Amino acid sequence: MFAVILKEDGYSGRATGPRIENAADWLEAAELPVPEAGAGQVVIKLKAASVNPSDLHFIKGENGQPRVKGAAAGFEGCGEVVEAGAGAEALLGKRVAFVAAAAGAWAEFVLCEAMNCIPLRDDISDADGAAQIVNPLTAMAMVDIAAQGKSALVISAAASQLGKLMIGLARDLGLETIALVRRADAMASLKALGATEVLDVTSADFTDNFTKASRALKPRVFLDAVADQTSEQVFANMPNGARWVIYGNLAGTPPTLTQLGQLIFMDKQIEGFWLTKWMRTTPPADQMRVVGEVQARFADGRWRTDISARIKLRDVVSGLAEATRKTDGKVLIEV
Ligand SMILES: NC(=O)c1ccc[n+]([C@@H]2O[C@H](COP(=O)([O-])OP(=O)(O)OC[C@H]3O[C@@H](n4cnc5c(N)ncnc54)[C@H](OP(=O)(O)O)[C@@H]3O)[C@@H](O)[C@H]2O)c1
Repeated sequence: MFAVILKEDGYSGRATGPRIENAADWLEAAELPVPEAGAGQVVIKLKAASVNPSDLHFIKGENGQPRVKGAAAGFEGCGEVVEAGAGAEALLGKRVAFVAAAAGAWAEFVLCEAMNCIPLRDDISDADGAAQIVNPLTAMAMVDIAAQGKSALVISAAASQLGKLMIGLARDLGLETIALVRRADAMASLKALGATEVLDVTSADFTDNFTKASRALKPRVFLDAVADQTSEQVFANMPNGARWVIYGNLAGTPPTLTQLGQLIFMDKQIEGFWLTKWMRTTPPADQMRVVGEVQARFADGRWRTDISARIKLRDVVSGLAEATRKTDGKVLIEV
């Protein structure tokens, strides 16, 4: 089968962010044997894979798990189950969304744990199916942190696919949001999605505007994918009891903490969120309820996947870097 494979092993020891100049620095095309499903596993004939920031971190060796040189890259997609190992027979012939936990999605056939597959409703498109797990489940899990405390929330990189999902979900749950973006042309669309306030972190009056919004809405949860010095200042300007939940490293340069006393005297907390841990620790019945809600939201149009570019699997090495330069949607890899 055709596959797009990793050129390097392990970790790079660097954290330069989810940007690439040339995919050929990290990836190459190869012919690999079609994988075989073991117990509890399935083989999926790929229809489409989505490119997430975690894929770009991973191929560069800066994601939470080591690369395996010569193995296919890519985590998320959708396709048809063409082989099922013992215990996974119920999935045979089904169209599923999947996350290949050890990577391998950028190949004509993908080996995946059955428990990481979700049968797709007929009314979900392949494009939505290819981005059905990582961002939607993260959105559900993280907005729930704010929902439990009935708190307003701050969302950084709010024009990201995940940011847009969270803004719509928060609106539907009656939670107020302060959405942070770095380009003014993204502001109107986020307001239309239901953000209470949209602020441009690059504007000269950002700090004043954020301070005003924070005093008015009292957000106690900051869902942050950027994690730079601006994020640190945002957290410092949030009220007592605020939680800074870092779930991404888009900036690639960590901030300096300037207000350690707030952790001691204002009951503030800094923590991380990783979907993989959420999937390992959330009871299956709760996960199934969340999965059902995710598909319902895509099926009835409350959520959709914005696609910025479509490329063929065979063109990933030559075309991925260029395709990822447009940041207002997902790159979709099609077979
Ligand atoms: N921890 C987890 O379990 C988990 C799960 C899912 C996703 N994530 C993380 O969630 C984040 C968003 O994912 P996504 O798939 O929604 O991304 P995406 O749709 O590809 O969008 C990326 C967004 O990031 C913004 N951005 C990039 N670099 C930035 C920087 N230095 N400062 C501010 N904004 C920056 C871009 O803004 P412009 O539009 O202005 O260019 C763009 O809107 C990523 O960091 C990803 O790794 C984490």
